[in-house]
Amino acid sequence: MLVEGKNISFSYDGFSLALQDVEVTIEKGEFLAILGCNGSGKSTLVKHFNALLPLQQGELRVAQIDLRDEGDIWRLRRLCGMVFQNPDNQFVASTVEEDIAFGLENYEVPREEIPGRVRAALALVEMSGYEKRAPNTLSGGQKQRVALAGVLALEPEIIIFDEATAMLDPRGRQEVLAIMDKLHKAGRTIIAITHFVEEAVAADKIILMHKGRVLACGSPKAILTDLDLMKEAEMIPPLPVRLYHDLRQAGIYLKNCPLTDEELVEELWQLRSKT
Ligand SMILES: Nc1ncnc2c1ncn2[C@@H]1O[C@H](COP(=O)(O)OP(=O)(O)O)[C@@H](O)[C@H]1O
Ligand SMILES: [Mg+2]
Repeated sequence: MLVEGKNISFSYDGFSLALQDVEVTIEKGEFLAILGCNGSGKSTLVKHFNALLPLQQGELRVAQIDLRDEGDIWRLRRLCGMVFQNPDNQFVASTVEEDIAFGLENYEVPREEIPGRVRAALALVEMSGYEKRAPNTLSGGQKQRVALAGVLALEPEIIIFDEATAMLDPRGRQEVLAIMDKLHKAGRTIIAITHFVEEAVAADKIILMHKGRVLACGSPKAILTDLDLMKEAEMIPPLPVRLYHDLRQAGIYLKNCPLTDEELVEELWQLRSKT
């Protein structure tokens, strides 16, 4: 188990709870989506994984590191890379390669290793050739890929995307999602935080959060097709799921509840061949 958390509660103000009795487990190589509406506690939870927030209550282990011990924070930060929402807030240097190199220097990666690591990380996010570009001349999707390269260059165990697609246009979003998918297929452990239900469909597992609590944890099918659960979480189910239920109301029964557009087409096709 790469991440193992139990009974995690957290308060910013010492009064109201931003997290309440949260349980979370993540296995190596898993693609976990943390889904929930605004303010449900998603960012607060993952900020515990690399000690950006201190563990106030409960237990948490990340890659065998006990978060109650403060000594290992730098090792933990390196193991647990994060890409944030705003692509413009993640750069410190004037060129792409300097920016990634700066992060490596900060973590005291030996100098002679740096150029090779920068090159490999840019290749992974398909940004080779952009080494000398100024980050502010890139598109939103490209900026997020460079920010991700900065994280990958540190060779993390876990890569966390905290709404990393939320500020991007559809094309930029697709670019980032495609890289996420590629990294997952290459065996990386991915945590994707999102309030877009469509982005959780491809996950291995979804943790559904609401008001600081875990409402449910399970497969995308189990979570996203459960109308009562989605309603409780104040989330709108994916379009194929809504259509499935609307059709039922109209007396048209699809065999299975589809999650993706492809599955929806498949179900509609079967309906047609029956009549
Ligand atoms: N820095 C902060 N100071 C005080 N309260 C905060 C802070 N960050 C988040 N909160 C509160 O904690 C709760 C959970 O927020 P957050 O984890 O950011 O949710 P999400 O990432 O799901 O949108 C919300 O009620 C939010 O207002
Ligand atoms: Mg958030």
